[in-house]
Parts: sequence; C-alpha cells; structure tokens
Amino acid sequence: MHKNTDESCVGPYTLPDVLKCSDGRMIDNAFDWVNTRRSEILDIYRRTMYGFLPPRPDKTEFEVISEKNDALDNTAIRKEIRLSFAMNNGRKHSFVMLLYIPKNAAKPVPVFCGLNFKGNHNCTFEDDVEMTGRNSSGELVETERSDQIHRWQFAETVKRGFASATVCYHDIYPDEKDENSWRKSVYNMFFADESNEEFHSHASAVSAWAWGLSRMLDCLESEPLIDSSKAFVHGHSRLGKTSLWAGANDTRFKMVVSNDSGCCGSALLRRDFGETVEIITHYFPHWFVSSFAGYACCEAEIPFDQHWLISLIAPRYAAIGSAEEDLHADPKGEFLSGAHAGRVYNLFGIETYNENTPHPVNSCITGAVSYHIRSGGHDQTLVDWKHYWEIADIIKG
Ligand code: GCU
Repeated sequence: MHKNTDESCVGPYTLPDVLKCSDGRMIDNAFDWVNTRRSEILDIYRRTMYGFLPPRPDKTEFEVISEKNDALDNTAIRKEIRLSFAMNNGRKHSFVMLLYIPKNAAKPVPVFCGLNFKGNHNCTFEDDVEMTGRNSSGELVETERSDQIHRWQFAETVKRGFASATVCYHDIYPDEKDENSWRKSVYNMFFADESNEEFHSHASAVSAWAWGLSRMLDCLESEPLIDSSKAFVHGHSRLGKTSLWAGANDTRFKMVVSNDSGCCGSALLRRDFGETVEIITHYFPHWFVSSFAGYACCEAEIPFDQHWLISLIAPRYAAIGSAEEDLHADPKGEFLSGAHAGRVYNLFGIETYNENTPHPVNSCITGAVSYHIRSGGHDQTLVDWKHYWEIADIIKG
C-alpha cells in the first residue's frame, strides 16, 4: 500500500470550502454557521465517515463502587463508578470509570475526560484500582499495572486543580477488526437484530467511544465537587480521533484535545503524507462506516477534509498536539487543519493562527485553536500535558 513520508513528494491539492453549503450558499456569519452549516457538516460526517452515535438508553445508573479519600499521596479523592445502561427489552451494558478529584478545593473544579487503551489500572500507580478493559471474549486486554501513567499525569493534573476521569475504550466497544465485535459493544443494546452488514453501514467503534465520553460527562454532571460546565475531552491517536468526534457532537466539552490523532483525526486527508484512507480502512475497518473504505486512493472525492472537523468545535477551544517523529500521523497536516479551521472561528470574531504562523518544535501557539509540536515520537507525554493544562487554565479563569 502506498505511503509517502517525503515532504518534497506531496502534490498539490484543493480543500473543499468549509463555508460553502451543499446548495452553494456561502456562510458569512456565526448565526448561519450554528443554525445551518454546522448541522449539515455533522450529518455529512455521520453518513460518510464515523457513522451515527448510539441513542440514549432507556435507563442509566451511576453506582460508586469504591471511594478513597487519601488517594495520590493524600492529594485526591478517588472514586470508581460503574455506569450501567439498560433497555426496557432487558439488554444491558456497563463500564467502570476511574475518577480523581483534588482534595480540599475551594470550589467545584473543571474536569478532563479521556478514554484509555489498556485499562484503568494501567493509568495509575495505585495498585488497588480495579482492572478493566476486556476484549470481546471477556478477557482483560492488559494485566500489567501502571505502564501508561505518563499518558495520564493524574497527580500533576490534580495538583493543578483539575479532576480527571477515564474509562477503558474496550469496555465501550472492543477494538477488534472482527465484524462481530460490535455485538459486545454498547450498540448491541440498540441494534442486536441487525446483520453485521446493516450495522457497519451506519455505525462505528469511534462513534461508540465518543458516546461513552458523553455518558462519562453525564455522570460527572452529578458530582458536586466538579464544575461540569468546564469539561475537557482529550485523547491520543485513535482516541484523539475519538475526542474530536466526541467534541464535535457534544458541545458540553469546552476544550477538545487532539493528541497525535493523525489520519481521520486532525491531519488533512488530501495531503499525501503518512497514513492514508487505504491503509487505515484496511487495518481498522470498524472505526468507520463500511462505505468509507470506498475512498481508498481517492481522497480528493471525500466531500470534506479534516479542517471541517476542527471547525465543528468552534468557538470552543481546540488543542492540537503533534510529535516531530510521528510521520505516520502527518504533523504538518495536523497543523494545517487547525489553520484552515480559522475561517469558522473568524465568524465568531476569534482570531486564530494561519498556515504561515511559525511553530518551531517545542513551542506552542496558544488561543482558541492552539497547536504545538513536541520533539520525539507518537505518545502523550508530560510536555503535551503542559500545553493542555495551559489552555485549561485560561478556561478555568
Ligand atoms: C495505528 C493507526 C493510527 C492510529 C494509531 C493509534 O497506527 O494507523 O491511525 O492513530 O494506530 O491509535 O495508536
């Protein structure tokens, strides 16, 4: 499969106009953006790429299954909460959220929400956290503890006055290519009678994960120590694609962090650099509706490009992070989608960076659309977190 990582081989491309409606009308004000164009774009994304999020279940319950008041060396309150969903026809699904809240905060605190790859126990150094994250056979995907703590930075996040919540993404939709794996996902509550073919024509794992992030926020809204009007969604790589899609759908998220989200995340699709639609739909078909694979090798025919996805976050904060050595994710393409989304932010009277704004490695362009590129490879590190905390501090006030 073709994959270019030589900047001098990137050919010319023309981006579809984010402000031009399907009927040819041009949007020139924030009111028309919010009331017509925004929903038109969401609908195009749902039909073409990420499918439809699951509906709301008939019943939802939040049950605190553990609580510790001296967590993280006595700086945090730690809760594990089971989020349970049920349908009137008896179908059920549940997953466990790990939550840290700063201890003794003077007022309710903002919260970061993110999904993790390898289980809640893998994100914290505390060894009494329940092991989560099961594959479609019900086995734990990871029995080691704590090897991704650097991606979470719970202690420092709490020290800076933010709560932080996570759920393992496998527990919402097991991340497996097998076309049956959705039957172990939240979607099974709603579409169990569909064939695999029908299901994959309108739904995807990324939409299930985005739905899970919104359900986490529903739960956090009931926590008195949390100011859920200041909720931030973050995600790395495939979960960065997911945080963008969650933030596009759920405007309660006031900042959307895309960390190394790459192809079908923040990187422009038409720029021939790094991962392509052909590669991603070959290895990960379940992340998209089945018809999206039809755009393999013909990205120019996709009705949108990824600056449209960033635009759906306007006028809220979009924080885009890249890593210099992460060529698979196309750091330049990630930068450019943020630049091109600026036209939509401008409708709200917000100035953002443009494609000529300098962005040297290990610096940060701040603002409603922020961008940084860190030295090193594909990961979410303390350096990335420092940029996200900086933007979160602005929102916190
Ligand atoms: C693969 C995939 C990427 C994805 C990444 C990840 O490399 O090709 O699109 O972002 O996995 O999620 O780590």
